[in-house]
Amino acid sequence: MHAALTALTAELRRLKTAGVKTVDVSEESVAALRRAVVAQRASGSRRPEARGQGAEVRDQQAGSQKAEAGREKSSSQSPEVAAIRTPQSALRNSGGDSAAPVLPPPPEVVLPEGDKAARWAALRELVLNHPVCRDNVRPGKKVVLGVGSLDAKIMFVGEAPGADEEVLGEPFVGPAGQLLTKMILAMGLKREEVYIGNIMNWRPQIPSPGGGEQVGNRPPTAAEMTFCLPFLRAQIGIVEPTVLVALGKTALEGLLGAGNFKTLGEARGRWHEFAGRPVMVTYHPSYILREPTNRKKRLIWDDLLKVMDRVDLPVSEKQRGYFLER
Ligand code: URA
Repeated sequence: MHAALTALTAELRRLKTAGVKTVDVSEESVAALRRAVVAQRASGSRRPEARGQGAEVRDQQAGSQKAEAGREKSSSQSPEVAAIRTPQSALRNSGGDSAAPVLPPPPEVVLPEGDKAARWAALRELVLNHPVCRDNVRPGKKVVLGVGSLDAKIMFVGEAPGADEEVLGEPFVGPAGQLLTKMILAMGLKREEVYIGNIMNWRPQIPSPGGGEQVGNRPPTAAEMTFCLPFLRAQIGIVEPTVLVALGKTALEGLLGAGNFKTLGEARGRWHEFAGRPVMVTYHPSYILREPTNRKKRLIWDDLLKVMDRVDLPVSEKQRGYFLER
């Protein structure tokens, strides 16, 4: 029984780390759990947590060795297209949770000389083949770099690839992406005329028992975002957009720092700065998918009108009036 309780505790910890907030448990299971806990207390055996904690420390050590091996591979990569310098010490994720991946410190991206297309191609090679990125996608799934015009004035920044994106290897191609494409069209632009990237280059994993398809998404950890940020900076350095548009809370935190704003509402609709460029913060399109009211659409649209003004895009009377009907 002790082993079963330990396994149950470990599974609940894993689900919590993966962002699962509630678990359905039947009345019979609750009763059985109560009986097990009472029996365990009566027998005076050790609390399951103590053993679990010991196991976590060992897991961390094993994880660090894996990260070290990954780094060695990356520093011995052929440098002709682009080089990546990864500092030598391993970094534990800030959350300290055993289910989050252990990542080395963020890479330093060094791109070769050349025009935008050559530097972007080198960056793409580097990110798609980076051992840490590859280690963090499931077999058969793809690492994802941004797409779009390398001369774009507007760069949208989202959170991370989801199920569709990790299959196709392109950001924002699922339902939220289709809505983003409509928003871009409403601005009078084509999708190919802007640049679309993400804070993360892989879909943050949620382990599935038995290794099946991942169900659901979780937000990236601080360590995951920190690791991928140099890749986004490199894309910004190549494209040199006039403005960035941060879509949602993860993009806000990734670009402007976690803890600087209590809510997205506090930051949205205003200009901020990242890498010397203006950043407009707005809601993620998935917010509208969850609640497709004109009021919510207008909130995002107000922010996008400010972006259009900033990059000197013409705004018609019709466009100014979108989503005003409640
Ligand atoms: N949501 C994001 O934030 N990014 C994607 O690429 C897809 C969905």
